[in-house]
Amino acid sequence: MAVTGILLVLFLIAHMLGNLKIFTGATAFNHYAGWLREIGAPLLPSTGFLWLQRVGLLVAVLLHIWAATVLALRARAARPVRYAHRKKIQGSYAARTMRWGGVIILLFVVYHILDLTTGTLNPVGDSTRPYANVVADFAPGRWYVTLFYTLAIVALGFHLRHGVFSALRSLGQQTPRGEQRARAVALVFAVALCVGYLLVPFAVLTGLVS
Ligand code: HEM
Repeated sequence: MAVTGILLVLFLIAHMLGNLKIFTGATAFNHYAGWLREIGAPLLPSTGFLWLQRVGLLVAVLLHIWAATVLALRARAARPVRYAHRKKIQGSYAARTMRWGGVIILLFVVYHILDLTTGTLNPVGDSTRPYANVVADFAPGRWYVTLFYTLAIVALGFHLRHGVFSALRSLGQQTPRGEQRARAVALVFAVALCVGYLLVPFAVLTGLVS
């Protein structure tokens, strides 16, 4: 759970930083997106690294879901007889929404790939002009797309808050003070990532990026 989670978090950090390059203008952003396809050249063919990353991410997501399922089944097996009077569920809001949060993020990623990778659902949909794709995507007239992205990214924030907290606890932060530290780090990280991602659609919506 933690190893695949950490890999996905590394991708999320890199992707967020890459997205923020939109503030450096169309030429720089499109150049950056072009470079993503040429990483590793000439050792690797064009888009070779991108495909390695796609396979790596897919495997990480599948293993992450598999580990979650195994852990949930193990937890259930540890208590085969269900509580007659189930106590009020303990834990933070983030902890209780991991499963449905994960499903929402998965559905978002499918939509997002059809939107900004294949261009199928994007008004421009030209893979050689990612800046134009992003600007068309979050145009004020398409406020509902920004709303959907916002909901998905907030769900991602909750998921990350609990995921990072759990990972840090597994990595040794198990004393009461350690848990407190882990909780604070997880919250700051989740908020920073959410803000970093949301800056782009809101900059387009408000005309700061056009
Ligand atoms: C508002 C926030 C986001 C923006 C503006 C954004 C933008 C983009 C763009 C422009 C691409 C296409 C890159 C290219 O083909 O050159 C892309 C691809 C992708 N994004 Fe995002 N993204 C955002 C949030 C996210 C989030 C939250 C996730 C994951 C939960 C994510 C996962 C991906 C994945 C998996 C790809 C496909 C990479 C590939 O295989 O080509 N993105 N994104």
